[in-house]
Amino acid sequence: LDHPGGQLSMAVKKAVDGPGGIDVSALLKETGYVTLDQGFVNTASTTSAITYIDGDQGILRYRGYPIEQLAEKSTFLEVSYLLMNGELPTPAQLRDYADKIRVHTLLQEEMRTFFSSFPRNAHPMSVLSSAVTALSTFYQDALDPLDAEQVDISAIRLMAKLPTIAAYTYKKSIGHPLPYPDNSLDYVQNFLRLTFGLPTVQYDVDPKIAKILDMLFILHADHEQNCSTSSVRLVGSSQANLFASISAGIGALSGPLHGGANAAVLEMLEQIRKDGGDVNSFVTRVKNKEKGVKLMGFGHRVYKNYDPRAAIVKKAAQEMLSTLDKPDPLLEIAFKLEEIALSDEYFISRKLYPNVDFYTGLIYKAMGFPTDMFTVLFAIGRLPGWIAQYREMIVDPANKIGRPRQIYTGSPVRDFVP
Ligand code: MLT
Repeated sequence: LDHPGGQLSMAVKKAVDGPGGIDVSALLKETGYVTLDQGFVNTASTTSAITYIDGDQGILRYRGYPIEQLAEKSTFLEVSYLLMNGELPTPAQLRDYADKIRVHTLLQEEMRTFFSSFPRNAHPMSVLSSAVTALSTFYQDALDPLDAEQVDISAIRLMAKLPTIAAYTYKKSIGHPLPYPDNSLDYVQNFLRLTFGLPTVQYDVDPKIAKILDMLFILHADHEQNCSTSSVRLVGSSQANLFASISAGIGALSGPLHGGANAAVLEMLEQIRKDGGDVNSFVTRVKNKEKGVKLMGFGHRVYKNYDPRAAIVKKAAQEMLSTLDKPDPLLEIAFKLEEIALSDEYFISRKLYPNVDFYTGLIYKAMGFPTDMFTVLFAIGRLPGWIAQYREMIVDPANKIGRPRQIYTGSPVRDFVP
């Protein structure tokens, strides 16, 4: 307790000396020590009513609903409404919400030309976050974070435009013209057509693929205080507008440790294939901690049990890859790797289970997305969670501007001798 910064010990002393003789250990247990410091208020954690995770039991719920049920029975648009509003929409509310989104799928014409200014080899996540920030220059009529109506309209604009922007980041990278949205299609179908269709060629979206992608967006829609979500909240806590805050979230997600895991899994599977496809020998090399050999897509900072998203994704991978003309050898390797690892004491004792990223890369690849687009897909899925978290934070009168705690570890007092 007596750490160098001394702030905590002062706070504890205050609590012990305070009226009524506070039980410090109970207080620490109840609150976590970061909440004790009166001077710094609550700077390192937050309460939230959006997503519930129990990592020991492998539970994930959005607004109380088990993710398995939502993935099976609802659509991404319904889930986005649920996250942002706290309730699933009635049929009339859903129609109204979908109509509002449809009205806003187009980008301003100037915004479309914006894409041609980036180098063709720009990473789609860099273009995505730049374009989202740029939206705030076009929609100055609704930037006030303290005006609920303005935040609502910005949220609709973002939900509507992010798939358009995402598809254009891809089109830009392959030098294709930017098609206009087709608002007769549903949310995900429109995104797939924008990404893979061409303005002059008829492109029929496969509804089976659209359904799987819709479900993957649901699975990624929120995951409580991860790196990108807490970035959105932190930036938003300064009362930065929604576009600026979401752009910060996209920046956080672009880092390989957050959004890059499924691409790393694909690389690992490809390497195993190139090395002859011997999964047992790969597992032995992992256990021997051979330099550069890592089991990707297993384990999670929070889950010490099966990530509930992983089981659903595995089923989707089977479904998606069965639509291919010729089987993907990487899927066989992935299945085998999972089977071996799950029955090996080394991984069992370390509670290393497949996570959500283990199969998603294989699915996206089968859908035709290049690896660089995987994180962009994650961002589309995560957008409603980010918006919900921003709104929850901004309307809470107890929230102050974020200021993460620092514990000073530098030199003690020194005399300056010229
Ligand atoms: C997520 O869904 O955001 C990832 O699992 C990362 C995390 O939760 O930390």
